Amino acid sequence: MYTSITHLKDFVGQEVTLKGWAYNFRSSGKIYFLQLRDGSGFVQVVFSAGDLAPEVWEQLNSVTLESSVEVKGIVKVEPRAQGGFELQGTAFVPLHINTDEYPIGKKEHGPEFLFDNRDLYLRSQTPWAVLRIRDRVFFSIEQFFHEEGFIRFDTPVLQPTSCEDTTQLFTVDYYGTPMYLSQSGQLYSEAGIMGFGKVYDFGPVFRAEKSKTRHHLSELWMMDAEMAFYDQNMNMDVQEKMVKCIVADVLRDCQQELQILGRDTTLLQKLVDTPFIRKTHAEVKAELAADGLTVDALDDMSTEEEIYLGEKYKLPVFIQDYPAAVKAFYMKRFTDDAGVLRARCADLIAPEEGREIIGGSQRNENYDELKKEIVDREYPLEEYEWYLNTRKFGSVPHSGFGIGLERTVRWITGVHHIREAIPFARMLNRNRP
Ligand code: 4AD
Ligand code: MG
Repeated sequence: MYTSITHLKDFVGQEVTLKGWAYNFRSSGKIYFLQLRDGSGFVQVVFSAGDLAPEVWEQLNSVTLESSVEVKGIVKVEPRAQGGFELQGTAFVPLHINTDEYPIGKKEHGPEFLFDNRDLYLRSQTPWAVLRIRDRVFFSIEQFFHEEGFIRFDTPVLQPTSCEDTTQLFTVDYYGTPMYLSQSGQLYSEAGIMGFGKVYDFGPVFRAEKSKTRHHLSELWMMDAEMAFYDQNMNMDVQEKMVKCIVADVLRDCQQELQILGRDTTLLQKLVDTPFIRKTHAEVKAELAADGLTVDALDDMSTEEEIYLGEKYKLPVFIQDYPAAVKAFYMKRFTDDAGVLRARCADLIAPEEGREIIGGSQRNENYDELKKEIVDREYPLEEYEWYLNTRKFGSVPHSGFGIGLERTVRWITGVHHIREAIPFARMLNRNRP
């Protein structure tokens, strides 16, 4: 019976055929241990010389790292093995025995070497675990939104305007006129809710900021959600429910992956049924100052401040009401008691160095105010006419948010650098392979 490693539990005591790659092997004379991976998992196949014809035994002993092979064997329960099973080998067929030495050996390699060889490094256990968790997070978000009555509403990657900071745009030549790679689908999603009520998109977005941190990518995957008739509190409620749902799904379905990564899941387990912290930007800045950090009360949150907050609370923290001056043009504004113009927004900061994983806000639904903001920022008004129509015809209070997939995966998996959280990373200093 041809099957895959994840299905071995259904074949205990039976003979199965597996096809995969040799990720390791060792021999002790008459016994040969083949570590096989097939994409779905990992299993050890134990062969005895007496069970194979001499020429097959010889072929088995000529296997090199990452050669592709077919094996037959009897499935045995082996509680000590990763995955819980082992195969007693009964047949072996080489598919492609590598003649060149496989570049990623058993010795330690530096991260630059591994990412220069990302196409091969993807075969290793750490990327396997991280990228399967990424897949689970992606699926979890899609499921969550459908259960909550949203429809998927995809937005264009090529856009004539900027959504966020204009200094971070990648320009492309579009039949002789400049266009930009999307920074976020949000503006289009705002038009979408006027047709569909609640929408989300999920796709690649681009940020040309010259940032080299381990939290920044030039190409990342973002999910933007937008909801008609939601205020900022309702917006945060959706985000909190979604993040809890993602974490619960990963904890339930990705136990082997988390184990491979050696992830301590104590804090992840805790947040699933603990209310997230909600504080204002002013409160947080005052608190950080009282704790002895040097802060600028009217500036954005710095990397250090975000990491500090995550450490302090050990739970996700919503920071609300940033000064309007450090936020995007589309956010609803209000003046606080101290006379500071603030945005009706919140960023969600994940603990354990997760940093900001979500940015969201209530949108300014007032036509005149929004138009003035566009003009004041010297954005090309004529390119925003269509967007302003959302405020000209049946304008409604509405809110939305964007979650960065790789930031979220980096946080949940606990890997050091965000480049681990996407199959092929695009960053300031890396665009190959
Ligand atoms: O906070 P941002 O810039 O928000 C927006 O783009 C809004 N238009 C979203 C919306 O309201 N629909 O980006 C949202 C999230 C961030 O919180 C972060 O997780 C991720 O996208 N992100 C990045 N991740 C990796 N590298 C970068 N350079 C990122 N820039 C943003
Ligand atoms: Mg942000």
